[in-house]
Amino acid sequence: MATMKDIAKLAGVSTSTVSHVINKSRYVSEEISERVNSAARELNYRPSALARSLKVNRTKTIGMLVTTSTNPFFGEVVKGVERSCYHKGYNLILCNTEGDNERMRGSIDTLLQKRVDGLILMCSSLEGERIDVFEQYPDIPVVVMDWGPMLFTSDKIQDNSLRGGYLAAKHLIDCGHKQIGCITGPLVKHQAQMRYEGYKRAINEAGLTFSADWIVEADFECEGGYDAFNRIYAKGKLPSAIFVCNDMMAMGVINAAHEKGIHIPQDLSIIGYDDIHIAKFMTPSLTTIHQPKYRLGKAAVEALLNKVEGGSTDAQVVQLEPTLVERSTVLTLN
Ligand code: RIB
Repeated sequence: MATMKDIAKLAGVSTSTVSHVINKSRYVSEEISERVNSAARELNYRPSALARSLKVNRTKTIGMLVTTSTNPFFGEVVKGVERSCYHKGYNLILCNTEGDNERMRGSIDTLLQKRVDGLILMCSSLEGERIDVFEQYPDIPVVVMDWGPMLFTSDKIQDNSLRGGYLAAKHLIDCGHKQIGCITGPLVKHQAQMRYEGYKRAINEAGLTFSADWIVEADFECEGGYDAFNRIYAKGKLPSAIFVCNDMMAMGVINAAHEKGIHIPQDLSIIGYDDIHIAKFMTPSLTTIHQPKYRLGKAAVEALLNKVEGGSTDAQVVQLEPTLVERSTVLTLN
């Protein structure tokens, strides 16, 4: 690839003159400028992104860490991040953490060494963790998504899961259900806690009672939902409805119920959470709570670039509101 030195040799000028012409950093006569530009065209010169970044101290690149999972939720959020980066002229480097803390720390370190302008983190194994690598790069803007408390300075973008959990249980109550179970995500995760809290608030508000037999903590994965349903089934009498705290677990629940000859929604109503793309194509199509996944991704990029491009330095929390999506897995009893 041609360099400024090659251009200088062909145009018969110094490399600093070439640099001044290309970067327009000092006046150069029209005759010499034309000689330099003509040589650059002839050599098909492309400015070095690294050289440019060293000059403006920015690489126009964002690093993002996600927890890999079979859960399409992450891919739908990343789509919002990637498209926003593209529209704003930034590149995105995506790293999977596989839920492994050491791999995550290594990826953060690599991204920072590549001088990304900022980081978006959506890998909840960092929740509550102190990340020493951030102490080596205190000025790097960081935005976290879908998380609870952090021990490092960052902006936070999240869904209002307390409201979403309340909406889910309230919908079941409004459809006449009085025996309502809950299959939660891992309660070490802030969003899982908030959905469960929202469920409890709606149940308490309606004066209904809880049965420990119908409340199971699971792992946000299909298998976790499948096993959780079988644990509830083994207790004997089923509730009339279950709030399952994400769509992947809801798929596992519906599969396990089908294996037991339980018909959804005739024998058991189910409401999920996320509204992942495939939720409406399930049979029966899943009633769920829509998380604004694409907008979460877009908001994360906007918050990060606000910091990168010199906006406010205060840590901010951006909370987007979930909405109810009624489909075919909840039976109206009243
Ligand atoms: O970790 C997976 C879950 O957490 C997703 O389904 C989404 O609800 C996120 O908050």
